[in-house]
Amino acid sequence: MHAVTVSVALDIDPGLDDALALILALRSPEIRPALVTTVAGNGPLEMTTWNALRILNYLGAAHIPVAAGASTPLVKPFHGALDYHGADALGGLDLPEGRADVETRAAHDLLFDFAAAAPGERILIATGPLTNIANAFQRHEDMPLLLKELIIMGGAFGLTPFGTGNQTPNAEFNIWQDPDAAHVVFGSGVPMTIVGLDVTNDPTGALDASDLARLRMASSREATLVASLLQYALHRHQYCAMHDPLALAVALDRSLFGFVTGRPDVVTREGEERGRTRIQTVALSADGLGSAQVATRVDGPRFKELFMGRMLES
Ligand code: RIB
Ligand code: CA
Repeated sequence: MHAVTVSVALDIDPGLDDALALILALRSPEIRPALVTTVAGNGPLEMTTWNALRILNYLGAAHIPVAAGASTPLVKPFHGALDYHGADALGGLDLPEGRADVETRAAHDLLFDFAAAAPGERILIATGPLTNIANAFQRHEDMPLLLKELIIMGGAFGLTPFGTGNQTPNAEFNIWQDPDAAHVVFGSGVPMTIVGLDVTNDPTGALDASDLARLRMASSREATLVASLLQYALHRHQYCAMHDPLALAVALDRSLFGFVTGRPDVVTREGEERGRTRIQTVALSADGLGSAQVATRVDGPRFKELFMGRMLES
C-alpha cells in the first residue's frame, strides 16, 4: 500500500521523452496528474501542445486540463530540437487527433491556482525549458513557497562523468534554451530537486533494443505507444535516454537517487558559457533558502524495472 497520492502538475515540451514521462505519470499510483501545461522547447508551442492533447486523448486521460504556455523563452529567441524528436516532435507517431480545447486561462495562472489549492502538498514537475515556471513565479511571488516541491529535468553540473552538455559542451538543452528563466527559478526559494544529465545520460537508466522487443510483446495502448516512441528514438541511437521519466521518478521513488544539497546557478549571457549550470555546496544559508537537491546518482536498473514493469502491466 503506498502513501497518499500526491497531486502533480506537469510542465512539458513533448518531445519523445516528455511523452514517455507523461505515460509513466498516468500509470503511477503514487501521483495524480491534475494539470498539464506546455511550453515551446523540443518543438514550437503549437506542436508540443498538440502532442500533449493527442497522448492524453489516446490514453483515455482527456479529462486532464491542458494549458498552452510560453511560445518563446523570456529573453532568448526560440530554438527547437526537431532534429532529435522528428518533424512533429513525436517521432512521426501515428496518433489520432486529441480534443482541441486547451484551457483559455494562462498557463502561469493555472499553475499558481494548482499550487494555491493545497499549500505545501503539491508537486510541480518541469521537463522542458523553465519559461512557464518563471512566468508563474514572477506574477505570483508567493507561489514558490506554496509548492511542496518543484522537480526539474535540466542542467549538467559536472557531478558525474555524464554531467556535460548536450546542446553545447557546457549546457543542457532545457536550461540552455531559457537560461534567464532558470535564473529566476533557481533564485526563487522554491523547494527544488534537479535531475540533470549527470544522471539522465547514464546508460544504465536508458532503454535499448531489448526493451523494445519486450514492449512489442505487449498489447496495451501504453506499451504500443512506448514501443513506437522507442523505435523512433533508437533509429539513430543505441539508447533512448530517459531524461524526463527519470525526473518524474523522483516523485515515485526517491530512493532510486542520491543527491547533493547546494545552491544552483546558471550562466545567462550569450556565448559558449550560456546555460552552464553549477552547484555551490558551501556557504549555504542556515534556512537553506535557495538551495536545491541535485541528483548525483541513480539506480538505473531499478528505475528501468519500475518503468518497464508499469508499461507491461496489462
Ligand atoms: O536535455 C534533455 C531535455 O531536453 C529533455 O527534457 C528533452 O525532452 C529536452 O526537452
Ligand atoms: Ca523535455
